[in-house]
Amino acid sequence: MLENKNIILGVCGSIAAYKSAFLVRLLVKAGANVKVILTPDGANFITPLTLATLSKNPVYTQYFEEETGVWSNHVELGLWADLIIIAPISANTLAKLATGICDNLLTAVYLSAKCPVYVAPAMDLDMWKHETTQNNIERISSFGNTVIAPANGELASGLWGEGRMAEPEEIVSFLSNSIKKSLPLFGKKVLVTAGPTYEAIDPVRFIGNHSSGKMGFALADEMAKLGAEVTLIAGPTAQKADQILKRIDVVSAQEMFDACTVAFAETDITVMCAAVADYRPKQVATQKIKKQDSGLFLELEKTTDILAFLGAAKKPHQVLVGFALETNDEENYAKGKLEKKNLDLVVLNSLNDKGAGFKSDTNKITIFNKALERTIFEMKSKTAVAKDICTAILKIAK
Ligand code: C5P
Repeated sequence: MLENKNIILGVCGSIAAYKSAFLVRLLVKAGANVKVILTPDGANFITPLTLATLSKNPVYTQYFEEETGVWSNHVELGLWADLIIIAPISANTLAKLATGICDNLLTAVYLSAKCPVYVAPAMDLDMWKHETTQNNIERISSFGNTVIAPANGELASGLWGEGRMAEPEEIVSFLSNSIKKSLPLFGKKVLVTAGPTYEAIDPVRFIGNHSSGKMGFALADEMAKLGAEVTLIAGPTAQKADQILKRIDVVSAQEMFDACTVAFAETDITVMCAAVADYRPKQVATQKIKKQDSGLFLELEKTTDILAFLGAAKKPHQVLVGFALETNDEENYAKGKLEKKNLDLVVLNSLNDKGAGFKSDTNKITIFNKALERTIFEMKSKTAVAKDICTAILKIAK
């Protein structure tokens, strides 16, 4: 969740500032770009050198660096941030945030920023309990800021009570969870199928197809990035899934059908990207079929069309998306599938487009919605195509 996020960490004058070093380390490890702003008193508790080394960025302490003459632009810093976390925040800075006092770089950046702001207070128990502090907490919360509550325990004064800053690990997981909750697909269960299926002829041979699984895996990854709880049902493929996905590996169309029908009942959005075999050998030989002088005839039977089966069972809140890979009369076939299989969207890719379809890292798609409106996309990487498909789904997800 924190990968590539621009985070400003504000550090105020409190002994808990020693924990800020750990916090920077954890944020950087999570892939965030971190810039630290120390209040003048914060700099008494932890050195800029420590935080600059850990964040791999210069640390800001004032508007104007006397030695270098460099001016720190608070507006630029505020707009750079995807998120501001002030940890620890002192009773003093809390009061400034509540009233709009803007007498140092951190408070100026806070007022300039448009991003979510989190604060993790740290102070002695009586300062924390004081009506003024509690009023300030209420007030800054009413502005839309989020307070990461302090814990109970031993305080620097030797007293016991509420006022210990949340531990850096707790702060990081709080931030990750709250970013996750703000994502557009948070709380949605998504099912994606990917790859080919293999239909056994005998113990060593099968009927398969050229699907690499790249498009389906890119879609599953993108859905997970948008906050969905993703189940990826994959046929035989060398693709690697993101760790946050639930992956179920299957081989045949029947196994994919079984896995899909179980997962579908719980699913809000289903995207069937797999190239499922339409036919399978009627009989699977138990021993390897020996070479003969004459030719070999295989009798094939139809597999169940999983997408059509799910389309017939679809509940009003469920969104169902199918793919159509065609070689001729593409648009008519795609529209026909949309209606016949009761889909909400169909994604067409034509094998006539160079760089589209199987194995390549790119794809060129056209999306049709229920009203048979058509959106044509340029040739793009499969990751970018996955983003376009997700945008189309977000428009219709209930
Ligand atoms: O009808 P056609 O096989 O061309 O439709 C392709 C779409 O149907 C894809 O979304 C594919 O995942 C799905 N499909 C399926 N079960 C099958 C065959 C195709 O779910 N047996």
